[in-house]
Amino acid sequence: MDLKDHIRGIPDFPKPGILFYDVSPLLAHGPAWKTAIDRLADAVRPHRPDVLVGIESRGFLVAAPLALALGIGFVMVRKRGKLPGDTVAHSYDLEYGTDTIEVQSDAVKPGQRVVVLDDLLATGGTMAAAVTLLRRIGADVRAAAFLVELTFLNGRDKLDVPSLSLMAYDS
Ligand code: PRP
Ligand code: MG
Repeated sequence: MDLKDHIRGIPDFPKPGILFYDVSPLLAHGPAWKTAIDRLADAVRPHRPDVLVGIESRGFLVAAPLALALGIGFVMVRKRGKLPGDTVAHSYDLEYGTDTIEVQSDAVKPGQRVVVLDDLLATGGTMAAAVTLLRRIGADVRAAAFLVELTFLNGRDKLDVPSLSLMAYDS
């Protein structure tokens, strides 16, 4: 099955000149979505994670079912101000301004092996920030995994962990 048949390119979203790779049709198609999760499970399993982390919001869509498939737990990295209790935050630069992500301080035990999931790797800024944040609470980040990678943005150059993706686009 070619999973790219279930990815839709939408021109000029969210602004003119940007081609948006929309994963909605993949999620909406039961057999294709199951195939995607099965393939990710096969790619992620060799990294022997103790726990998976998903990055709000679309990373949750991938990480939660994958954690179930692997029989392990799932942890949320969220945008600022959403998580209760003791949290750790990390701010990072965007094209314009900054963004902040948070995780609960006890979400990962020191030394636990973690694989971080997101739907899409673009510039790599989001994933690099999540890796930094998770290390701050003691996680042993083993890999980053994505459904889609935009190779022309060279996001994996920002990451110092192995990166895997099911689908790549070079333009
Ligand atoms: C998108 C996407 C990734 C990130 C990739 O999330 O889901 O998380 O951008 O971009 P980067 O590699 O350049 O950092 P977005 O912030 O649009 O929010 P969402 O997941 O809540 O839709
Ligand atoms: Mg996102």
